[in-house]
Amino acid sequence: MNHSERMKCEALKDRITTAEAAATLIRSGMTLGTSGFTPTGYPKAVPAALAARFQKEKGCCINLYTGASVGKGLDGALAEAGAINRRMPYQTNTTVRKKLNQRDIRYSDIHLSHFAQEIRYGFYGKVDVALVEALEITEEGHIVPTTSVGASPVFISQAETVIVEINTRKPLSLKGMHDIYQPQDPPHRQPIPLVNPEDRIGTTAIPCDPTKIKAIVFTDLEDDPISFTAADEDSQQIARHLISFFQQEVMAGRLPEQLLPLQSGVGSVANAVLKGMSDSPFKNLVFYSEVIQDNVLDLLDNGTFRFASGTSFTLSPEGFDRLYANMAQYRNQIMLRPMEISNNPEIIRRIGSIAMNTAIEADIFGNVNSTHIMGRRMMNGIGGSGDFARAGYLSIFATPSMAKGGAISAIVPMVSHVDHTEHDVKVIVTEQGLADLRGLSPWERAESVIENCAHPDYRPALRDYLAAGMKEPGHTAQLMHEALSWHQRFEETGTMKP
Ligand code: COA
Repeated sequence: MNHSERMKCEALKDRITTAEAAATLIRSGMTLGTSGFTPTGYPKAVPAALAARFQKEKGCCINLYTGASVGKGLDGALAEAGAINRRMPYQTNTTVRKKLNQRDIRYSDIHLSHFAQEIRYGFYGKVDVALVEALEITEEGHIVPTTSVGASPVFISQAETVIVEINTRKPLSLKGMHDIYQPQDPPHRQPIPLVNPEDRIGTTAIPCDPTKIKAIVFTDLEDDPISFTAADEDSQQIARHLISFFQQEVMAGRLPEQLLPLQSGVGSVANAVLKGMSDSPFKNLVFYSEVIQDNVLDLLDNGTFRFASGTSFTLSPEGFDRLYANMAQYRNQIMLRPMEISNNPEIIRRIGSIAMNTAIEADIFGNVNSTHIMGRRMMNGIGGSGDFARAGYLSIFATPSMAKGGAISAIVPMVSHVDHTEHDVKVIVTEQGLADLRGLSPWERAESVIENCAHPDYRPALRDYLAAGMKEPGHTAQLMHEALSWHQRFEETGTMKP
């Protein structure tokens, strides 16, 4: 293979090696920071070699830090080898989920905007090795990322040793779509100079001291394929409620005609909501979010969006084919940034993001749980939802009104775990309708959530709960002895229904 097209730094030519040799630089007890944000742009060959070695050398483990969730060849392979001690800041892998819920993996669920700066602050110890997937290494030894940026800039700047996997499967035409900027730390931090989502504020490669690059491995490996489930009727109904809410906000003069930059969370409901925007009258919108999914390409193609900024291309194989075949168009319309910038509260507040995220459950007073099933079992993590919800112009949480065939009401008296408090949640929407909570007292919020969002099967019991709570003194009509009784009933009987 001719390596010079992608490895342009003469001084590093002797660092080209095999995945097995590179993996020997990672030893038990170390902290490894990798590229990857969703199952794309993560290293593949060195983790496979490392997992194979750790399978043989029993008792070895590392701390694994990433941008967010990554492919199963990294997270899953190391978890199956029993080789993950500590995991941050977000995951979606089934083996990791099982192990952290068994308390075999120490998982710290962190706001994504906090993570990079807190690595620099030294909150989580030193990063020994940065392992990143790259399109190319430049003449200066700088690293051009592939299909995600995530936390790679901070890992590269902080680690003592850098290992690069140059993936020749990812086309060089992606070069130039990245905008790499790292803020200084307090007390020297300056305003981040991003005023409009389209602004370019950084470099196209991640700066790296080339003497830290100890191994370069060439690969030709696919990301894990991503598939999207078709939007069901409930999700489509949620999208319709949101679109009519946006139209009312425009009519009331609280949003401009082209809205404000949209953010959309992860999961099947969030996908459907974005897809639903295609059927809206809105055009020429801007998307400032985390992940660029297939439906974002649809929205760019049909003129609903004019520009999209994220930290990762989370595309199906067909989506990647479409991206690569139309790079001339998309390179002017899409930018990938470090997650420290895509999720930065300073920018989110400045641009006035419309934050749309998904709840597992919401309570009648407006608190939202996005991470835990029945208060105990971790699903994925908070991800960037808190970054956007707290700093957004409008923070919206969507969920189907019921789960598990109706045995669970997603609208409950009190959430079993709180990720987003009533102070950060402006709108709750289910397929039943939308509750606009702005400016309401706790009992007004409860009435609005019950009457607009709860499923009719659960409304009478929620009304009874609120009525009983209103007989007690105080501001919030909560019944301490009953607040979590719905969850308890589900665990005892398999349904929340009385
Ligand atoms: N109680 C118990 N289980 C529930 C539930 C509830 N109230 N609501 C949903 N579930 C279950 C579903 O039944 C499903 O279970 P299954 O995997 O056994 O089928 C699972 O939770 C996922 O639900 P689903 O409706 O498929 O949700 P989703 O794919 O839209 O994901 C979240 C929803 C909340 C899990 C997901 O959006 C998430 O992880 N969010 C947090 C991170 C985030 O918002 N990141 C974006 C920031 S930019």
